[in-house]
Amino acid sequence: MTTAEGFAPAKLNLTLHVTGQRADGYHLLDSLVVFADIGDRLTYQPGPELALTVGGPFAEGVPTDQRNLVWRAAEACGWTGHIHLDKSLPHGAGIGGGSSDAAAVLRDLGGPREAALPLGADVPVCLSPYPQRMMGIGEHLSAVSRFPAWDMVLINPGVQVPTPQVFQALDTKHNPAVSEIPVTGTRADMVAWLSRQRNDLQAAALCCAPQIQPVLDTLRGAELARMSGSGATCFGIYPDAAEARRAAQHISQAHPEWWVQPCRTRGRTSD
Ligand code: C5P
Repeated sequence: MTTAEGFAPAKLNLTLHVTGQRADGYHLLDSLVVFADIGDRLTYQPGPELALTVGGPFAEGVPTDQRNLVWRAAEACGWTGHIHLDKSLPHGAGIGGGSSDAAAVLRDLGGPREAALPLGADVPVCLSPYPQRMMGIGEHLSAVSRFPAWDMVLINPGVQVPTPQVFQALDTKHNPAVSEIPVTGTRADMVAWLSRQRNDLQAAALCCAPQIQPVLDTLRGAELARMSGSGATCFGIYPDAAEARRAAQHISQAHPEWWVQPCRTRGRTSD
C-alpha cells in the first residue's frame, strides 16, 4: 500500500471585515484570503481502521480522535487508514490550523465539497490554495485574478485566542465591506489599498490578548502590519524575500519566545 502526502498551508486574512450577524449568531465576513508556503504536512497510509498520530513542533495538545478536524474530514471521505499530521503551525492562532488540515484531507482523499462547511466556516476557503474573497460566514468564495505574492513575516506571541470570545468582544458588527480590489494596479497601489482595509477582529482580540500589541509594534517597520483571523498571529509585509528574512532574524533574536517565520504567499497572475 502506498503512502500519499499532503500539505496544509497557513491561511492569512489580508482583510477581515465583519459586516453583519446572522440570526444563528454567526458573523458575516468580507475577507481577502491568501495562503503561504509554510504549513502542516500530512501522510496517508490506507488500512482497515482510521488512526491519527501527530508530531512536529506544535503537536502538544492536539487531539488524535474525533475532536480533531482531520479525523472528521477523513470520516466524511469514507476513508480508513493511518494519517500522520506534522504540526508546524501554531493552533488557535488565526492562520487556519485545523481548518487547513481538514481541507487538505478533503482534497487529498477526494471528499465532497459539501463536507467542508459543516467542519468549520474557514474550511471551504482552504480547499483552494489561490487568493480568494470570502463572504457570508465563509461559504461564498470568489477567486481573485491577478493578485501579487507577498513576502511576509508571521509572528505569534504564544497566546491562544478563542475565536468565539473575540467575536463576542466586538463593539460593532455592522462595518463597511471590503472596497473593490484594484487588480490592475501596481504593487504599491495594492499595499496602499490593503492599508485602507481592516481586520475588524483586531481591536477585540487585543482586549482578550494584550500580548498582540507588542507584536504589531515590532512589525512597524513593515509596509503593512495586521492580525490574521481572530489572532493572535500577525503578519508584516516586506518589499522582498531578503528583507523579510532579515526582519525575521532580527525579531527572533529580540524575542526568542515568539514564533517568527518568514514566508511567501501564493499570488495569481491570470484569470
Ligand atoms: O466555524 P468555526 O467552528 O470555525 O467557528 C468557531 C466559532 O467562531 C463559532 O462557533 C462562532 O462563535 C465564531 N464564528 C462566527 N462567525 C463566523 C465564523 C466563526 O461567529 N463567520
